[in-house]
Amino acid sequence: MSIMTTDRPQLPPGLPTPDWCDEDYGVALYRGDCLEVMGRMPDNSVDCVLTDPPYGLNYGYEGYDDTRENLRKLINGLFSYRNMFVRMIILCGPTQIHEYPESDWVGAITWDTTGSLCRFGFSQWTPILIYGDDVKRGFKSINGVLKSDTFHIRGGSSVGFRRSKEESLHPCPKSKHIMDYISRRYTNQRESIIDPFMGSGTTGVAAVNLGRAFIGIELEPKYFDIAVRRIRQAIIDRQGGELFAKHEPPAEANLFDKTNPNNLRNRNGKNHHRTS
Ligand SMILES: C[S@@+](CC[C@H](N)C(=O)[O-])C[C@H]1O[C@@H](n2cnc3c(N)ncnc32)[C@H](O)[C@@H]1O
Repeated sequence: MSIMTTDRPQLPPGLPTPDWCDEDYGVALYRGDCLEVMGRMPDNSVDCVLTDPPYGLNYGYEGYDDTRENLRKLINGLFSYRNMFVRMIILCGPTQIHEYPESDWVGAITWDTTGSLCRFGFSQWTPILIYGDDVKRGFKSINGVLKSDTFHIRGGSSVGFRRSKEESLHPCPKSKHIMDYISRRYTNQRESIIDPFMGSGTTGVAAVNLGRAFIGIELEPKYFDIAVRRIRQAIIDRQGGELFAKHEPPAEANLFDKTNPNNLRNRNGKNHHRTS
């Protein structure tokens, strides 16, 4: 579904000058340390943090040293800005849950397949740490997805989905489908999302597709450049959808709408004019 110009999200006011932005589509991207960038942002400025921080598992990132000690510093820093956000949704690994402050709820992404190897077999779930109030009270669905706290991935390769060439340039990108689902589930249209550990920008692609404003921060220039490319492409794709929507025939041209007086034509093709 395309999103009309009037439905486009707005960036929160008072943000520092970004390294890349598209104000029309509400996107601001920063290349640098998220703790430093967030230190220059106003309080209460963003609706939702949606991120998967480094895991502290000595992962082979380009520049960042993925030690447990460094993860603890990032978590402390991130939570010192807790007042800046209404909600925080953090995807982490099972062995890092206890490194984070106590959350209001824990959801899960589950896999049929072999997420990764752990000492008790194969890890088939990713915890979702949830802080703050939900977007909507009650049950049923929200933004087109079930109002649930779990998301199940069926079948596929080792992580349950295939990656595009562009996604594979980052060592541990999240799937677009996961970020799409999580964004729908935990944010409303035109709200703002921040991903302080943006990596290759998957959260940003989902945000653009769904009409949420997006602030992304990434330390490593190589990953930042991938994110810019992917998010710019998502904006181009969405613009295409908007142009197409503009050329849809106007409602009165719908010949099947018998309630529209313009459609009440006689056999000669002339309009019947209603007198009352
Ligand atoms: C698990 S990855 C995120 C992957 C991302 N979700 C994706 O789909 O591509 C974590 C990212 O955090 C980045 N990072 C580490 N420390 C950072 C910091 N202080 N500020 C910003 N980014 C940081 C790493 O370079 C890495 O790309």
